[in-house]
Amino acid sequence: MIPLLIGKKRDGGELTRAEIEQIVLGYVRGEVPDYQVAAWLMACYLRGLTDAETLALTEVMAASGDQLDLSTIGAPTLDKHSTGGVGDKTSLVLVPLLAAGGVAIAKMSGRGLGFTGGTVDKLESIPGYRTELTAQEMLAQVQRIGCCLAGQSASLAPADKLLYALRDATATVESIPLIAASIMSKKLAGGAQHILLDVKVGAGAFMTTRERAEQLAGTLVRIGEGAGRRTHAMLTDMSQPLGYTVGNALEVREAIETLRPDLPSHPRFEALVCALAGHAFALCGLSPDAAEGQARAQRLLQSGDALNKFCQMVEAQGGDPRVVDDLNLLPRAPLVVEYPAPESGYVAEVAPRTVALAALQLGAGRQKKEDAIDPAVGVEALKCVGDPVQAGEPVFRIHARTESSLQQARTTLQSALRILETPVPPQGVLLA
Ligand code: URA
Repeated sequence: MIPLLIGKKRDGGELTRAEIEQIVLGYVRGEVPDYQVAAWLMACYLRGLTDAETLALTEVMAASGDQLDLSTIGAPTLDKHSTGGVGDKTSLVLVPLLAAGGVAIAKMSGRGLGFTGGTVDKLESIPGYRTELTAQEMLAQVQRIGCCLAGQSASLAPADKLLYALRDATATVESIPLIAASIMSKKLAGGAQHILLDVKVGAGAFMTTRERAEQLAGTLVRIGEGAGRRTHAMLTDMSQPLGYTVGNALEVREAIETLRPDLPSHPRFEALVCALAGHAFALCGLSPDAAEGQARAQRLLQSGDALNKFCQMVEAQGGDPRVVDDLNLLPRAPLVVEYPAPESGYVAEVAPRTVALAALQLGAGRQKKEDAIDPAVGVEALKCVGDPVQAGEPVFRIHARTESSLQQARTTLQSALRILETPVPPQGVLLA
């Protein structure tokens, strides 16, 4: 029977929901072997999936394990997802900010792999912070304070985990319907009624071209709406690192700086957070439109309400909330060295993957799932595209554990920066 289904997809046919279930649930139960699922995935990769197949696959994966029931929460529920990038610490600010504005958000995040950092790794640099919460703990916390920020539960959408590992081993990851189904299966299982998607575009993103990012955004929204969830996707720039920090504790520091009304925040990062929050408030019916929602987000940052919610969340998850007043309680690297601009001019490029590679060499990320990370190390990128720069002025600040990793990162960063003599226009963070 399974070979017939593989053949149907290979020849460009459309599988029914029941046929997709046979393959996917059979695989989860261990009844359908890897090689048949691998062949089917390749047929999906080459032939594509119709919208009906993509929705069916997503819903089958979402129903393959536990699903959070948020129906008893007396506030609009929202989940957000970013397709990831370099320096993306958005959830650390956005989750408490939205909760401070009346949105209930039970956010589950992953660990970092390759060039993108994971929110869970970043959170774990807060002393004591617990990222492993049970579904009951998450629900109770969201009931009590409006938000949680925890690790992805293994019992949610187990089909996605299995299929992703197989896609990774069979060159079938880069298929828009398969990526969209994978992302949305976890969102549907997370139980929120509203879904906000931040689809990143550029050299530091999963989608490097605008065309592919638009296709992915469209597919994600059609799945969400098809599954009865109000869904909105934004396209945002990832052609340079987001904010000024790349590295776990450094990114938590930047998130706290953004939340603290008495400290300056990075304009591109704050603009992104407020734009996302504006759309979230509008989506949930808590603001008449995104522009009003954005103004509300700014007020919640300025009043300190978002910061207070962050403190409550850290405390609820066992972390030390004093980190918000004393950033020195976060892990700190022993070697902190500035990297000067080699010439004067205007910054034309801060290559995100090169900065991420330097951070990886310092120990901030992992190449394999089992690798340990060093929370203290990373890179500060002190200039954005369009900024004027003087020769000798610091453009990066490197936080290193050892002399040898410092030297390696310094060498890598030589090719991260491009400076031109003529002015370069800044690149806005919001694309659509
Ligand atoms: N992120 C996911 O969750 N799934 C994919 O397939 C790709 C990126």
